Amino acid sequence: MFAKDGSMISSCSSRATRASSDSVLLSTNIKCQILPSASVKIFSYDNLRLATRRFRANTMTGEGGFGCVCKGWIDENTFSPCKPGTGIPVAVKRFNPESLQEHQEWLAEINHLGHLSHPNLVKLFGYCLEDEHRLLVYEFLPRGSLESHLFKRGSGQPLAWNLRMKVALGAAKALAYLHSANIIIRDVKSSNILLDSDYTAKLTGFGLATNGPVGEETHVSTGVMGTYGYAAPEYIATGRLTQKCDIYGFGVLLLELLSGRRVIDKTRPEGEQHLVDWARPYLKHKHKIRCVIDASLGGLYSFSAAQNIAALALECLCTSSKKRPTMDSVVSVLEGVQEDEEPEAEKHQESGKRVTASASRNKGKSRWNIFGGGRS
Ligand SMILES: Nc1ncnc2c1ncn2[C@@H]1O[C@H](COP(=O)(O)OP(=O)(O)OP(=O)(O)O)[C@@H](O)[C@H]1O
Ligand SMILES: [Mg+2]
Repeated sequence: MFAKDGSMISSCSSRATRASSDSVLLSTNIKCQILPSASVKIFSYDNLRLATRRFRANTMTGEGGFGCVCKGWIDENTFSPCKPGTGIPVAVKRFNPESLQEHQEWLAEINHLGHLSHPNLVKLFGYCLEDEHRLLVYEFLPRGSLESHLFKRGSGQPLAWNLRMKVALGAAKALAYLHSANIIIRDVKSSNILLDSDYTAKLTGFGLATNGPVGEETHVSTGVMGTYGYAAPEYIATGRLTQKCDIYGFGVLLLELLSGRRVIDKTRPEGEQHLVDWARPYLKHKHKIRCVIDASLGGLYSFSAAQNIAALALECLCTSSKKRPTMDSVVSVLEGVQEDEEPEAEKHQESGKRVTASASRNKGKSRWNIFGGGRS
């Protein structure tokens, strides 16, 4: 029997050998689905195990809908595992190969992120495909996710206004870059914005990314996939995906930055649980915008900048997708807001003022697939 790459797989009656032949054949088939990229390295499972000290609990840096992300260390040149504190840190994410959805997302991350490079995109170093193991290896972002800064502060300080604006601009630039390459990421959310040591935002989460419409097409028809709260209403209703769906998700992100509230928070009183529905009436009136602004900022923000952000969020969240701005014009507005920034906001980060943790965790991570995955 021959695998697709022409190598021979011996046929054998032993159960164990047949199982391993099957897994070789499966791996070979999967390898054929991975688009070759010079910048994406193949890691062995043993090396990733060594790099993360056997995925020890204290190397765990976060947990997503699919499982844990561990911190490991590798040599910058050889990519071989090394002692903690030496070489470079990496984030290692494990996927479950038995879940078709997880497998597809693992593949989509490699086939999209592995071919892209931008200062506001997380770098994918490589992947592991070995027996039942599916892992991804990314550059490690020391300040974790925007989600944790906004909603899981514990005794930490609230993210200062100027840093929120910096994060918004970085994320917007990443999306503008993707849209210029006709890629729709479909999963804009605060847990997919990671922060570097200087709070540079880096977008991650390409598992649902897809190419946008081409030629005469106005949209891509797909099964509805995403994260509750962030998906555009017309996409949920019709399965028609356009770049404007990412713009809606970005509008939600702006609202989270402005308000310090989660997109869906079941711990809040009824009427306040859905951020967009709750905030929209306030955003429409200039004198009511203060009701939406995160109280933990302690008033340390530029009100005129906040007004601009509120107006921009409203535009991005417009129910008519055609009226939403392009990502390029979002970047222009945010650049203008940064230029007008008052230095005042920086004081807050240094003030040492403690704030209480925001409302208890409501991950809002549930993935859904209303019409079945994949393009139709
Ligand atoms: N490259 C990275 N550097 C540092 N921490 C990371 C990195 N990637 C992920 N993390 C951490 O792991 C957490 C989980 O990430 P993950 O992408 O698995 O889940 P999620 O975005 O919360 O949900 P989903 O499964 O829907 O993507 C992040 O919130 C972050 O704290
Ligand atoms: Mg993610």
